Amino acid sequence: MKSYSSFIPVLILSLSIGFQSCKDDKDDDSPTPPAQIKFEVPAGWPQPVYNFANNEVTNERFQLGRKLFYDPLLSRDNTISCGSCHLQSGAFSHIDHKVSHGIDDLDGTRNSPALFNLAWNTSFFWDGGVNHIEVQPIGPIENPVEMDETLGNVVAKLNASNTYKNLFLNAYGSDSITSQMMLRAIAQFMGVMVSSNSKYDKFIRGESGGTFDAQELNGLDLFRQKCASCHSEPLFTDHSFRNNGLDSVFINDPGRAHITLDPNDEGKFKVPSLRNVELSYPYMHDGRLKTLEKVLDHYA
Ligand code: HEC
Ligand code: HEC
Repeated sequence: MKSYSSFIPVLILSLSIGFQSCKDDKDDDSPTPPAQIKFEVPAGWPQPVYNFANNEVTNERFQLGRKLFYDPLLSRDNTISCGSCHLQSGAFSHIDHKVSHGIDDLDGTRNSPALFNLAWNTSFFWDGGVNHIEVQPIGPIENPVEMDETLGNVVAKLNASNTYKNLFLNAYGSDSITSQMMLRAIAQFMGVMVSSNSKYDKFIRGESGGTFDAQELNGLDLFRQKCASCHSEPLFTDHSFRNNGLDSVFINDPGRAHITLDPNDEGKFKVPSLRNVELSYPYMHDGRLKTLEKVLDHYA
């Protein structure tokens, strides 16, 4: 009975919010996609690293990139898509999977990171092994435990499909599909995904819905003292490679040293953003920490 009676006011509240949003904020909360896909730099943010001028944002390109992202055709046996390991419900990470789980049920060695604000990334992967968003998808496509396909085969499969030929014609003006066109479409889909409207962002902008209570203010204060030197605002990463003290020996994964071959880089990994972090468990490059409580225990 108790839970029933508290349910009613919640329901009424959400209904009245629903009506208000129909009246007041035009398209904002509507479930249908906006008429025109845009990439906008949120107020007060740095300029992005990715230059959309070379891959101008259009609905056709974005939708094509989205279709490719969710198409298992990109894998050797047509079973694994990018979306298999990057689930929207987990902020485009693989929730509940410590390490990547790909073709033939094979396991990788690293945790699938959440995907957003990638247009600001200076490098990709936990060790920063790739430095351009248009090159990044070749990694998983050709990785033997992820999609195990060749770029050439993917392009051949796409060219054999009249559906894709039409979509590429509409998006990039040519139906002879090249790997660059495909990589640009995927880059556009991923690059346009921006996380900039959390409660924190509303707090910073002084908007309604952005009021922090005393405990949240205290948390922000502590965060700025103890965490923001690496997880710096507003992206919640400074894009550097650091050792946050998880290990003292690095036999399993040398991290950044894998790329630089510099022994001083052993055990350093890319500082991940903490936006949407509640959704992207488990945590760290190898998914070893299951909960945020465990993360805080580690740092304590
Ligand atoms: C089998 C699971 C799996 C599949 C399939 C997969 N990924 Fe990933 N993805 C991962 C893992 C694991 C990492 C981290 C790898 C590393 O750091 O070495 C990653 C990293 C990334 C990153 C880097 C993010 C960052 O912040 O550095 C991007 C972008 C990405 N994937 C996009 C894609 C795209 C696009 C596809 C499809 C072409 C794809 N992924 C397919 C598991 C997967
Ligand atoms: C010295 C730089 C540094 C500081 C300070 C720091 N972190 Fe981190 N943080 C990192 C690095 C590097 C990683 C990734 C480590 C890895 O996977 O090996 C990380 C990972 C995380 C993760 C996991 C995110 C994910 O997607 O897996 C969380 C959560 C986190 N940090 C929260 C915090 C909090 C909370 C604080 C303050 C108490 C903090 N960090 C302070 C560098 C730092």
